Amino acid sequence: MENGQYVGSSTRLAIDELLVAADPPALAREAAARFARIAQKAVARLGRVTLVLAGGSTPERLYACLASEPYRTELPWHKTHIFWSDERAVPPEHPDSNFGMAKRALLDRVPVPADRIHRMQAERSDLDGAASDYQAEIAMTFAVTPAGEPPAFDLILLGLGRDGHTASLFPSTQALRETRRWVCANHIPMLKTNRLTLTPPILNRAMAIVLLVSGVDKAPILQAVLRGPADPGRLPIHLVRPASGRLIWLVDQDAAKGLSGRA
Ligand code: 6PG
Repeated sequence: MENGQYVGSSTRLAIDELLVAADPPALAREAAARFARIAQKAVARLGRVTLVLAGGSTPERLYACLASEPYRTELPWHKTHIFWSDERAVPPEHPDSNFGMAKRALLDRVPVPADRIHRMQAERSDLDGAASDYQAEIAMTFAVTPAGEPPAFDLILLGLGRDGHTASLFPSTQALRETRRWVCANHIPMLKTNRLTLTPPILNRAMAIVLLVSGVDKAPILQAVLRGPADPGRLPIHLVRPASGRLIWLVDQDAAKGLSGRA
């Protein structure tokens, strides 16, 4: 696929947009521009913006781009609420912490008020309690009851694992079947660990979801996800189908190697 090619599509994922960037720096610049547009529109409309950050390594370049000019000065960071899609069962200073990565790459360099940085406390031994507390923190931010329908984040950023997972929704794990809670603890047998993750009910309420995929090692899974049959148990990313929000795939050429023609 050509660089910067847009394809509208009605695949099983009901993709609203798929953009192929030339390389990881171009992908980060494109994602930052989308991020900025969504944030500025949300603040104009509501006086604040609610963003969910992805973990893993791919978004780090995007976070560094957002922490640099012009975004560092231009974006309304003081009106921004930052949440996470998932977190590993480690303390925030641990090298594997998704919060820690975003803090180093972005949050230490932009003026988001401390009370608007909503960290998942996945290091707690009581992960179910941490999940309920995070759900309550989301509810309080949106001024809704934690027992009701999930609120709509303005933007959720997600990645794609080589096994088709997103957030910490891994193949054949319990959280894939969650239909009521917005946040839950999830045991990941293949990693022999537990994590905290947002669930499909709240993901699919988002106004916009940006999926960021980079690198040749993601080419096989991206092709399987976009070309193959719907299989949410084996490919949990297939559970991500926003009810009314936009699903935007931003991928680089290496990841898009297996894609050709219309998606
Ligand atoms: C995590 C992420 C996870 C990530 C994918 C892709 O905690 O690991 O939330 O869902 O987005 O595993 O990770 P990379 O960007 O490192 O390939």
